Amino acid sequence: MEESCRCLKVFTMFVVLLWLASLRLASAHVIGYGEQPLSKIAIHKATSALRESVSIQANPVVLGLQGEDTEWVTVDLVNPDPSEDDWIAVFSPADFNSSTCLPVNDEDQEPYICTSPIKFKYANSSNSEYTKTGKAVLKFQLINQRADFSFAVFSGGLTNPKLVAVSNYISFANPKAPLYPRLAQGKSWDEMTITWTSGYAIDEAVPLVEWGLKGETQTQSPAGTLTVDQNSMCGSPARTVGWRDQGFIHTSFLKNLWPNSVYTYRMGHLLSNGSYIWSKTYSFKSSPYPGQDSLQRVIIFGDMGKAERDGSNEYSDYQPGSLNTTDQLIKDLKNYDIVFHIGDMTYSNGYISQWDQFTAQVEPIASTVPYMVASGNHERDWPDSGSFYQNTDSGGECGVLAETMFYVPAENRAKFWYSTDYGMFHFCIADSEHDWREGTEQYKFIEHCLASVDRRKQPWLIFAAHRVLGYSSNDWYAEEGAFEEPMGRESLQKLWQKYRVDIAFFGHVHNYERTCPIYQNQCVNSEKSHYSGTMNGTIHIVVGGAGSHLSEFTTAIPNWSIYRDYDFGFGKLTAFNHSYLLFEYKKSSDGKVYDSFTISREYKDVLACVHDSCEPTTLAS
Ligand SMILES: *[C@@H]1O[C@H](CO)[C@@H](O)[C@H](O)[C@H]1NC(C)=O
Ligand SMILES: *[C@@H]1O[C@H](CO)[C@@H](O)[C@H](O)[C@H]1NC(C)=O
Ligand SMILES: *[C@@H]1O[C@H](CO)[C@@H](O)[C@H](O)[C@H]1NC(C)=O
Ligand SMILES: *[C@@H]1O[C@H](CO)[C@@H](O)[C@H](O)[C@H]1NC(C)=O
Ligand SMILES: *[C@@H]1O[C@H](CO)[C@@H](O)[C@H](O)[C@H]1NC(C)=O
Ligand SMILES: *[C@@H]1O[C@H](CO)[C@@H](O)[C@H](O)[C@H]1NC(C)=O
Ligand SMILES: *[C@@H]1O[C@H](CO)[C@@H](O)[C@H](O)[C@H]1NC(C)=O
Ligand SMILES: [Fe+2]
Repeated sequence: MEESCRCLKVFTMFVVLLWLASLRLASAHVIGYGEQPLSKIAIHKATSALRESVSIQANPVVLGLQGEDTEWVTVDLVNPDPSEDDWIAVFSPADFNSSTCLPVNDEDQEPYICTSPIKFKYANSSNSEYTKTGKAVLKFQLINQRADFSFAVFSGGLTNPKLVAVSNYISFANPKAPLYPRLAQGKSWDEMTITWTSGYAIDEAVPLVEWGLKGETQTQSPAGTLTVDQNSMCGSPARTVGWRDQGFIHTSFLKNLWPNSVYTYRMGHLLSNGSYIWSKTYSFKSSPYPGQDSLQRVIIFGDMGKAERDGSNEYSDYQPGSLNTTDQLIKDLKNYDIVFHIGDMTYSNGYISQWDQFTAQVEPIASTVPYMVASGNHERDWPDSGSFYQNTDSGGECGVLAETMFYVPAENRAKFWYSTDYGMFHFCIADSEHDWREGTEQYKFIEHCLASVDRRKQPWLIFAAHRVLGYSSNDWYAEEGAFEEPMGRESLQKLWQKYRVDIAFFGHVHNYERTCPIYQNQCVNSEKSHYSGTMNGTIHIVVGGAGSHLSEFTTAIPNWSIYRDYDFGFGKLTAFNHSYLLFEYKKSSDGKVYDSFTISREYKDVLACVHDSCEPTTLAS
């Protein structure tokens, strides 16, 4: 007895070790990808080498005089002693050293500069003659980020920066303006939430949304306000050089909406002297009643990230597909109704200024259709912070920014799982950065979410998570053997099968892949593009190719893998009615369809008894 007990203990320990090792393996492959460009700047090592002879001048001095939130700025640099590794940093606030430095680690002395720039360019980037002439004219695109800006010249490259000169300060006419609205579905189908960012504290102005049916009387609704504190960050860089004040994040809950109706809205702040500050006017179409029969179109992707349109941060090299995806979606805004961005949103990785850039980049989309998000490793993971994975992918943000900047209809936004309805669709959004296995709180939620849908009204049941808890023949998942996140589908597959999930979507792997309908790890159908009749398997789709560096596939193609694409793209679901669903994969470069399939199915095909989805029956009559 003694003996076998010890054996079991040793064995259990061994299994746990193996498991930990596999977790490390699974994440190690991702960390190197698309590193945050700002992390290449050793800002805490910067020293002073200020030179009177170097001049740097920024124009115009006041931006956004017509209420714009994005402006181009010209920076003139004259440096009598130019060198190839000179670079220009954009700082905001302009007095970039005004905060108290927190040592990056205990051994470090107080750094000379303690704030990372919000972006950078090499001085030679606009003019290859710079090293000869010492003259450069650079163009930067700035967005309103609630503070002023300065431009600083450094020599010594990114790894050994020496501050040479600082420009004049420039700023937006109203740096506090309400900006970057993002819509999200509320907890019930007839509620839309609007989240935005401003520089107005609640004791300075009352935040509100003025809204109503288009062309009719507008009413005002209050908004709640959240802030993020530096000491709520879990580690560096978010807590140190990457920290930046995010201002005030407001959310208003528009309730009792009429279905399928166009509403207009604008965000406002009522100042204590009785005057209002207003945003632009936007509009959205309210969601259909759950079960309503009408055309309903959904965009879904993961891992988009952000990039700089002015070529800063080395020409979008970090999330190379991000702007193409964004631009395709903006161009096609009339042809879809709701977006799901299933994790790895900004890749800010602790450089918090980047959240403004991301919300600005997606604004045309997120201000028009609900922009529903999920949590990924780059939002959440941090050692000893309760994330399922103990890596540093969030750069110390440990979920706080994602949970504050975007609204999701979760019971507890720190546990990023929720359900949401869109007409004939029912979505169960999981959080792969928290334990999902049988017996956990999240597993109970997923089962409840899947079980609570009436398939006659909402035939299209969709599961989504950031990491691949289903199937992917990406090379690192293949190496590990099971083509999934370790323990990914071990317990979830039972639920997908029992509740007959139509499609499970994943990101994290930066490519596109679609499987056959799968039951117990096997294809149940040899059909490849037009599924009809009895439903007996779940189709798994990886749509992680929206922006970040592409991920390689294995050379051997598993027999469940129907279509793979090593390129940037995103998915689109179209429900024509209760019996016909179309899925399309589109490339971000041209918006064209490269893979698709349809499901034709009647209610009896969902009810029909197959495998473990059957309810017990009796022959008695
Ligand atoms: C500009 O400088 C960078 C960094 O030193 C260097 O890698 C690049 O080749 C230079 N580009 C040109 C056009 O000289
Ligand atoms: C930044 O602040 C540190 C101390 O907080 C100081 O030693 C240093 O000189 C300052 N650097 C600049 C560029 O003002
Ligand atoms: C109220 O205060 C704001 C900000 O100080 C100012 O711009 C505005 O003109 C004032 N409005 C009135 C009616 O006094
Ligand atoms: C699954 O359903 C398809 C379509 O009705 C059918 O062709 C196939 O035989 C079924 N497979 C199993 C294992 O039930
Ligand atoms: C697919 O591959 C699996 C594992 O290699 C094997 O067990 C299964 O029989 C194959 N199925 C088909 C339809 O070839
Ligand atoms: C569902 O939509 C498809 C595609 O438009 C159409 O062919 C089919 O007739 C429709 N079915 C019903 C029941 O309306
Ligand atoms: C973005 O789209 C353009 C235009 O189609 C294409 O030429 C370019 O290769 C795309 N970029 C990436 C990284 O796919
Ligand atoms: Fe990821």
